[in-house]
Amino acid sequence: MNILGIETSCDETAASVVKNGTTILSNVVVSSLKKHARYGGVIPEIASRHHLQIINTIVKESLSEARLELSAINAIAVTSSPGLMGSLLVGTSFAKALSLALQKPLIEVDHIKAHLYANFLSEKKPQLPAIGLIVSGGHTSLYHITSLKNFKLLGQTRDDAAGEAFDKVARILKLGYPGGPIIDKLAQENKKTDTLITFKGAELKNPFDFSFSGIKTAVLYYRQNNPQTPVEEIAFAFQKSVVTTLVDKALSACQKLKVKTLLIGGGVAANSHLRAALLKKCTQQHIALFTPPLSLCVDNAAMIAGFGYHIKPIGRRPHARPRTH
Ligand code: KG4
Ligand code: ZN
Repeated sequence: MNILGIETSCDETAASVVKNGTTILSNVVVSSLKKHARYGGVIPEIASRHHLQIINTIVKESLSEARLELSAINAIAVTSSPGLMGSLLVGTSFAKALSLALQKPLIEVDHIKAHLYANFLSEKKPQLPAIGLIVSGGHTSLYHITSLKNFKLLGQTRDDAAGEAFDKVARILKLGYPGGPIIDKLAQENKKTDTLITFKGAELKNPFDFSFSGIKTAVLYYRQNNPQTPVEEIAFAFQKSVVTTLVDKALSACQKLKVKTLLIGGGVAANSHLRAALLKKCTQQHIALFTPPLSLCVDNAAMIAGFGYHIKPIGRRPHARPRTH
């Protein structure tokens, strides 16, 4: 069963072919990020126009990389939400047209859950139940996953997402965009191995909810009042604060729900300090930690095609054949 995945929810135009939900035959991703950098964030209109210009080429490339003709595709999976409205529309319209033209089933995929599914594309497969921690530019949430059809939301951010906080703090510190990878690298250059600077987030009613906007504002005031402090140290302290929050909440969810597997996903899952801190704590507490390879942390279509294998196609097509799995 070859599924063609299409992802256009933000600035990446991506297409991929995945066999039987596990084997990646191709994974093509092109980002319009450079076009947004001067604005310090993704401009929806620029993103959707870019998708429109290149989606045809990206899909063709994903087929040729997989060495397959369109006729060898059994179904089309596409990100249906969440994301930028205009950008999503390009991907879903393209996928619908292709599905109609080829008379192949169309599968709508949730982008957030697909980020967690990225962990199932590695050779070693996670055991369920698991706790899933999503840390992306637009979302930060914790899920209790009992099966691939059952994701229960435990908590989410009340304000900024983790990646958004990285991007905004990078802007405050005049470091450039996107902020996550820049702060990650800069924090490693911090001369001291630790720091006395602390940025505390708000206490929340639901212990599994997140709030990062207070930390971001604390960085702003600290920078204004302490212009002498090396920027590496502020980056280090900010990253430490965000990572501590993420690790503590994810591990406490594992304990509370008596779960021995933790999956992470989303762009911030690429953060080196987060990966190291989670690995250390999970090893101590005998929890199996799954982190996708860097190429599958950022937005991609392999996670869409892979997860799509487990989702029922939408609608009814004339001459529809039953699924074979
Ligand atoms: O999942 P993603 O590619 O797009 C969304 O669906 O939002 O995540 C993008 C986010 C950006 O905010 C970016 O700054 C952040 O992921 N990011 C990182 C790192 N690499 C990307 N944040 C922290 N450390 C990184 N190494
Ligand atoms: Zn994403």
